[in-house]
Amino acid sequence: MTVADAAHGFAEWFGRRPAGVWSAPGRVNLIGEHTDYNDGFVFPFAIDRRTSVALGDRDDRVVRVATSHEPEAVEIHLDALAPDAVSGWAAYPLGVAWALRESGADLDLARGVDLYIASDVPIGAGLSSSAAIECAVALALDEHWGLGFDRPALAKVGRLAENRVVGAPTGIMDQTASLLGAVDSAVFLDCRSLDADVIPLGFDAEGLSLVVVDTRVTHAHASGGYAARRASCEAGARGLGVESLRDVRVDDLARAAEVLDDETFRRVRHVVTENQRVLDTVRTLRERGAGAIGALLDASHVSMRDDFEISVPELDLAVSTAQSSGAIGARMTGGGFGGSAIALVPDALVPDVTRAVAAAFADHGYREPVVFTVRASEGARRDA
Ligand code: GLA
Repeated sequence: MTVADAAHGFAEWFGRRPAGVWSAPGRVNLIGEHTDYNDGFVFPFAIDRRTSVALGDRDDRVVRVATSHEPEAVEIHLDALAPDAVSGWAAYPLGVAWALRESGADLDLARGVDLYIASDVPIGAGLSSSAAIECAVALALDEHWGLGFDRPALAKVGRLAENRVVGAPTGIMDQTASLLGAVDSAVFLDCRSLDADVIPLGFDAEGLSLVVVDTRVTHAHASGGYAARRASCEAGARGLGVESLRDVRVDDLARAAEVLDDETFRRVRHVVTENQRVLDTVRTLRERGAGAIGALLDASHVSMRDDFEISVPELDLAVSTAQSSGAIGARMTGGGFGGSAIALVPDALVPDVTRAVAAAFADHGYREPVVFTVRASEGARRDA
């Protein structure tokens, strides 16, 4: 749907047909939270909500971007691209153009482009609408300009744009899921080696649905909280004399408790146990199927709530209500401080869980959540 929207929007805005349309999905993370920037393990999948970008040439070396949800187009000359030269929503697409050049693309002979972006990835729901834009634009520019980046390299380009142009100190998970995702599969990524394994989930075969509860809570301190957690992890690694928390095992935690202050220790314990839960989830999935991973999802949520302290009451309520109304496992997903929870639910119980969550939010006087199911879907691609 967004493919047609992007092509149509392009034609309306720029008065000609686009040369091509590319798209990339948002993601949910099944498990492995705040582990990516600690060189750890993550297990996200691409969802059936996508961002499309329609592209057409121009001959003046200007990049111009427009989108359905902003009244103004933004443009910049290719030679003027710099981290602080763009801001607001345009930082995502134009940041990618800068990051491609920064990562070695020779843009001296590149012509300019017009880009039009349309998306049905909800914004601010913790489903990586930003990575979807970055990856759609990165793949579009790479293929259109013939730059020859492979997908792992494009994921790094997206992260560079996010870190340096948007200014968020995030890891590599979201872009990797958006670029490497596959139907009914999740991406098991080792964030140290960047080795990725695309693993079948088997949700359809087992009659399981993945329900997303978008709490519609966005906290002003989310980015500050994220950066603070990252800093705590780095302090923990320094305190333990390791390069990153990837080098700490569950068996090392007793010693860590003696060396670190209580708060830093609990941050470390989340990351270390979460890495183990990712490994356990992948093994359990392979050996016993998706129906057996519920307890690991539940334990992940407890760890984020109590040790990493990135949950909020609305997320906790979504998780506990889903669990008590039929989910086999549930947890918050993404960076935290708001956004979405996920629940793995037998197909027949999806209406019960949906109703129960809505009722519980109403009882608590919370804003009405948006509850929907997602399917693990194909990563970034050219559509037209
Ligand atoms: C955000 C970041 C990711 C990752 C998650 C937490 O989504 O963009 O890199 O750190 O938070 O797991």
